[in-house]
This record gives sequence, C-alpha cells and structure tokens, in this order.
Amino acid sequence: MLVVTVGLELTRKLLADKRLSKDSDALRREMKRQLTEPGDLAGLFGPSMLNSDNPRHARLRALAVKAFTNQAVQRLAPRVDQITAELVERLPENEEVDLVGALAVPMPLHVIGEVLGVPGEDRALLRTLIETMMSMNPEQSQPASDALGGYFHTLLTSNALDGSSLFGALVAADDDGDRLTHDELIAMAFLLVVAGHETTAGLIANVVHDALDNGLWRKAASDPGLVPALVEETLRHNPPVRHATHRITTEAVEIDGVLVPENTIVLINLGSAGRCPLAHEDAAEYRIDRETTGHATFGYGPHFCLGSALARLETETVLRQLLTRFPHTTRANDEPPPVTRNDIMASLKSLPVVLRR
Ligand code: HEM
Repeated sequence: MLVVTVGLELTRKLLADKRLSKDSDALRREMKRQLTEPGDLAGLFGPSMLNSDNPRHARLRALAVKAFTNQAVQRLAPRVDQITAELVERLPENEEVDLVGALAVPMPLHVIGEVLGVPGEDRALLRTLIETMMSMNPEQSQPASDALGGYFHTLLTSNALDGSSLFGALVAADDDGDRLTHDELIAMAFLLVVAGHETTAGLIANVVHDALDNGLWRKAASDPGLVPALVEETLRHNPPVRHATHRITTEAVEIDGVLVPENTIVLINLGSAGRCPLAHEDAAEYRIDRETTGHATFGYGPHFCLGSALARLETETVLRQLLTRFPHTTRANDEPPPVTRNDIMASLKSLPVVLRR
C-alpha cells in the first residue's frame, strides 16, 4: 500500500484520475493478497458508490443524493438542533466529562439513524459493531463486520421500515431489481452508517479541542459568528479523515516523478493537502482569520463527500450550543488526548473537558 503525499493541486487531480480506480472487486482481491488475516472484507470493500467507478458509481450515488442536498439538510436543521439540545442538557457541569462519548459520537449517530430509518434502540449496538470493525483488529474486525451485515440484512428485509426513510426508499429500489441489487443495498447501508457518523464525530471532537487549545473558546463564545471559521480551519488543519479511501492503479501511473506500478493500492494524504504551503500562508498555523475553503478534507471529483453539508451543519450546531451554554469550558488536563487510527481516519478516543457556565 502506497501513501501519496503531494500538494493540494495534485491531490485534487489524483482524486479525480480514472487510472486510480475504486472498483470493489479489484480492491478486495488486492487487499486479500496483502493482508495476513484478510477475512472477506465485505463491510469495507462491498459494492457501494465509494467502491465503484462509473457507470455503477453514478447509478448508486443518484439513489442517495436527494437525502443530502443543501435543501434537504436545511430541512433537517431543527431536528439536529433538538437532538443536540437533548444530549447537551444531560452533560454534567463543573466536573470532568468525556465529550466524545457523551456528545460527539451519539449526536451524528442519532441524526444519520433517523435519516436512514435505523430504530433508536439499535443504534448503540451499531456503534459498538462499527467501532470494532474499524479497529482493524484481525480477530475482532471480521466477526463485527459479519454481525453488521446480518443486522442490515434483517432490517432491510423486515418490511418494518418507514417508507419515508432513506432505507425505505432504497429497499423500494432493491425490489425494482434494475436499480439496486441486494449486495449493493447492504453495501450502501454499511457506507452511509459508517461515513455518516464516525467522520463527523471526529470533526466535532477536533474542533472543540482546537478551539480550547488555541485559546479561542471564550472569543467564540462572545462572537458565535466565528463558528463556521473554526469548523473550516479544523477541517483544513486537523481533519479527522487523514487519507482518502483505497484506490487501485489500473496501469502504471507517474505521480510527482515516481512511477507507481499497476495494481498498487494507493492512499492519498488529505491531511497534508490541507497544509499545502502553495495554497496557504502559514499553512502549519491554526488561524481563523484566513480563507480556509482550500482543503480536500471532503475529497474532490466524482467521490466528493455526499454528506459535507450535513457534517458542517451538525458540527456548527454542537459548537454553537456548547459555546452558548458553557462559555468558560476548559480541557480537564493538559495531556494530549488519546487517538484511534486506521488506514483512513485518526480520531480522538476521548476528550476530557470541564464544562463551565
Ligand atoms: C467531517 C465529516 C466528514 C468528512 C471529513 C468526510 C470525508 C469524506 C471524504 C474524504 C470522502 C471521499 C473519499 C474518497 O474519495 O476516497 C467522502 C465520501 C463520502 N462521504 Fe463523507 N465525510 C464526512 C461526513 C459524511 C457524512 C455526515 C455523510 C453522510 C451521509 C457522508 C457520506 C459520504 C459518502 C456516501 C461518500 C461516498 C461518495 C461517493 O463515493 O460518491 N460523509 N467523505
């Protein structure tokens, strides 16, 4: 597996380069060859839009895109606000609390659960299985992935789904076999549940951490207009998604003067693209007075993140509510918080803070 670290401009070109394929069969075949304990990898490399080139990519993306347009996300705003408020209401004050477990994870999990139609009582189990699957621990990952696949199969064939939910609409497309096969349906479920909460949870934790560590919490509490700039600067400077997902070369490709052979699995480094000195002055500095849209944290080209508007709305909502209610919040200690890593993400395992009014 090759990690490609180049500037922002070349990062974008590579993300849109057809010679770096996302074909799920090719990816799974090559990953199996490379891993000592490969399992069947269906959860991570199933035939979802993220693991497809055209024409399948366009067909699958079209089935989900309506639920995540800017207008659809604006309609979700009151519910996102309410779900956040219910969780914030329960947070203890003036004592240590882990913001990852108490807020950053459950908020986006409940929102995506509602959009998709995952029953409320099942969401904690889903979270546990996803965490285990993503840990890449060879003994635990595969059983967790199998259990998740089984769960989605039962949910999506149960006829108990609300027709207005996205899963309800996708099941109808599955019934109309030309539009979605059963394997594609299960792969879509994996992708939307995992991508729809794990990433945003990481962003929420990072932005709270960055605002506190850069001495910007009090400033933002008295000027909530700074919230979008904080979120954007964290996306650029300290993104939860470090690498774009696996791609495989369909032929030898020259990248920045290096010839990468055919059939190489490539991870494109998004974190370093955000710190490209050609795109940003003082790229290594965290500064909210800059124009920060020049990053590739949501990807680029055909696989550009479907949920970017939702992720921004969720993160801004959490930050606004915390700043308004707890303007004197501090970190609970000076230790760097623990981080969980896999090929794609690096997210805070916990973020101990003391919330103060
Ligand atoms: C901070 C939060 C998020 C970040 C940083 C993020 C990042 C990304 C990135 C980098 C990609 C492209 C990967 C690649 O090209 O290899 C992507 C794709 C995707 N994201 Fe997100 N994401 C976030 C939140 C969400 C949310 C909330 C959803 C909810 C639906 C979502 C759904 C997707 C989907 C479905 C794709 C695949 C799109 C395609 O293949 O056409 N993401 N995301």
